[in-house]
Amino acid sequence: EGSSRVLSLFTPSGHPTLGNLLGALLPSVRLLETADCVYGVSDLHALTSDHDPARLREQSLELAGLAIAAGIDPARCVLFLQSNVPAHAELAYLLESTAHYGEMQRMIQFKEKSARQSAVRLSLLTYPALMAADILLYQATDVPVGADQAQHVELTRDLATRFNRKYGPVFTLPRAVHPPAAARVMDLADPTAKMSKSIDSPGTIFLLDPIDVVRRKIMRAVTDSGTDVAYDPEAKPGVSNLLSILSACTGTPIADLTAGSYGVLKKETADAVIALLEPVQRRYADLSADPAELEGILRTGAERARERAAGTVVAAKEAMGL
Ligand code: ADP
Ligand code: NA
Repeated sequence: EGSSRVLSLFTPSGHPTLGNLLGALLPSVRLLETADCVYGVSDLHALTSDHDPARLREQSLELAGLAIAAGIDPARCVLFLQSNVPAHAELAYLLESTAHYGEMQRMIQFKEKSARQSAVRLSLLTYPALMAADILLYQATDVPVGADQAQHVELTRDLATRFNRKYGPVFTLPRAVHPPAAARVMDLADPTAKMSKSIDSPGTIFLLDPIDVVRRKIMRAVTDSGTDVAYDPEAKPGVSNLLSILSACTGTPIADLTAGSYGVLKKETADAVIALLEPVQRRYADLSADPAELEGILRTGAERARERAAGTVVAAKEAMGL
């Protein structure tokens, strides 16, 4: 339907990977065709665990630049940095005053992440209220998320429902939409683990890796015993991962792929990944040549986001007696 409003934020918590491109950026590009899209770089979310200020700024700009280079055309959506739109933090506080301590503490991601840290930032606990604000500010109907974020979208619906009942009908209830499972890219060195920008592995392909490094990483991908090129993620996770990357990069269904040996499969996969990455890297280099251009795009995006968010904040404050 032409009336869906999509909200999706990308967190600058590392250098973006092939997994982020196939699983998040390119699906977001496709949505530009059919939906009204609000896309942002969630730099505030990157503050929920220990961070380096200079690196955060670099990674935020890198992610915004790569999003544009991947095809997220800022003329066809709203594209901005979250910290440039104060309404996110403002509505997050109103939602924190709607949410309960217990329901934040029960979030699986909070439990997992807080268990691994000695000094847990309070913003890690309240993160789902900020995410709810991100979504509700723009009256989004659809929120594309991986399975790990589904619980937070559910909480967003609960908070919106509670707010609307208690104070008046301010928020649209959003739903989580999931990208196809085939877009899940596994680590080339350990195909039982998801490729992730937050994990330091020789099997991670970064979008800005030099092309020869990309080829080398794919040629060294862990395969499986045997010689048969067959899609069987349980018994042959390495070969299956290469097949699904090749399929995602070329648009050819896995069943129609015909590589006859592991060596041919690796070479075809490397060629396909490089064909996908080269134009992205070229556009990113063009954009990086003039930092003022990206700054201007993000300034305009933030102005448009502020305009779109303003009405929701006014309505929420008024409803709460502020
Ligand atoms: P990462 O694990 O790289 O830090 P995030 O958890 O920040 O990635 O996820 C950012 C977006 O990228 C999400 O939409 C997520 O579903 C997608 N994504 C991340 N890793 C992969 C992957 N290996 N395969 C497919 N999609 C991925
Ligand atoms: Na992550």
